[in-house]
Amino acid sequence: MLLLTIESSCDETSAAVVRDGREVLSNVVASQVDVHALYGGVVPELASRKHMEAVAVVVDDALRKAGPGLADIEGIAVTRGPGLVGALLVGLSMAKGMALSLEIPLVGVHHMEGHILAPLLEQQVPFPYLALAVSGGHTHLYRVDGIGKYRILGRTLDDAAGEAFDKVSKLLGLGYPGGAIIDRLAADGNPKAFDFPRPLLKKPNFDFSFSGIKTALLYYVQSQEGPIQGDHLCDVAASFQQAVIEVLCEKTLRAAKETGLERIVVAGGVACNKGLRRLMEQKATMAGFRAFFPSPSLCADNAAMLGVAGDAYLEGGCVADLNLNARANWPLDQAGWPQQR
Ligand code: KG4
Ligand code: ZN
Repeated sequence: MLLLTIESSCDETSAAVVRDGREVLSNVVASQVDVHALYGGVVPELASRKHMEAVAVVVDDALRKAGPGLADIEGIAVTRGPGLVGALLVGLSMAKGMALSLEIPLVGVHHMEGHILAPLLEQQVPFPYLALAVSGGHTHLYRVDGIGKYRILGRTLDDAAGEAFDKVSKLLGLGYPGGAIIDRLAADGNPKAFDFPRPLLKKPNFDFSFSGIKTALLYYVQSQEGPIQGDHLCDVAASFQQAVIEVLCEKTLRAAKETGLERIVVAGGVACNKGLRRLMEQKATMAGFRAFFPSPSLCADNAAMLGVAGDAYLEGGCVADLNLNARANWPLDQAGWPQQR
């Protein structure tokens, strides 16, 4: 099927055209980062307004870049949740309006489902696999048995990994969003310079906690007389990042060993992190597992990632009606099909 996909769960308005759930013909992303950066984080009301301004333009752009015209689109997949409810409603309304006027089927997809299936747009990753989903709102380990078949194995008990990067960046005065900034600084720093905690590493479960690392860093910053700059800043960034990625890798590898899942997918915005990609690759290979990462443009929020599940659902006859509503909170193991109401 030739699908139009629309994503608007947070601060990126995105539309894509995807063929047969595998081939990305276009993937257009309009970021609102500059608007929210002024406030140090996403302002929900502003996000909704910006989505409203951008959504029609982004859809138009995605159709133009894809080649096939609007008349060739056979179905629409849209992010139904989780996310900011006002933001989600903009994408949903656009999707519903287009499905109605074009008389084509519509389906709602879970945002994290999009993330953890994204590698399938670029390579073969046979099911079952283990997925580490790391973004601004999520840090979850899932067992993925197929499209629509997910089990939560572990999750963060406090901050998401991306949220920890963003908060630390803010308290170091580095700006928003912080992940990419810390990643860049860390490349020039010593990851062993400071010994930040590795929370829950000794607990025999697959849950995470990142707020303690952030608090330890806050105390360190407060103990310093002047601002942290230059090599010192790079060392702090590298040591913080090392603490986060070591916990992510250790827990993920432990889950792979205990579940016997040999393939590990790392997805979501934090999966862009160069240190995480390197360490996970190394540790997975050493343990006899294989790690898969989507390209950075498919790790960050984008609409193409919805194409994998969207295509499978629509092909399988799982179609939403026009009462489809946004779900701001929506655990992934309650998503999948056939519940499109
Ligand atoms: O998946 P995503 O684009 O949006 C959400 O669904 O949340 O993830 C955004 C998060 C932000 O917290 C951002 O700081 C983080 O991903 N991020 C990174 C990097 N690039 C983005 N974190 C660490 N290293 C990066 N290179
Ligand atoms: Zn995301």
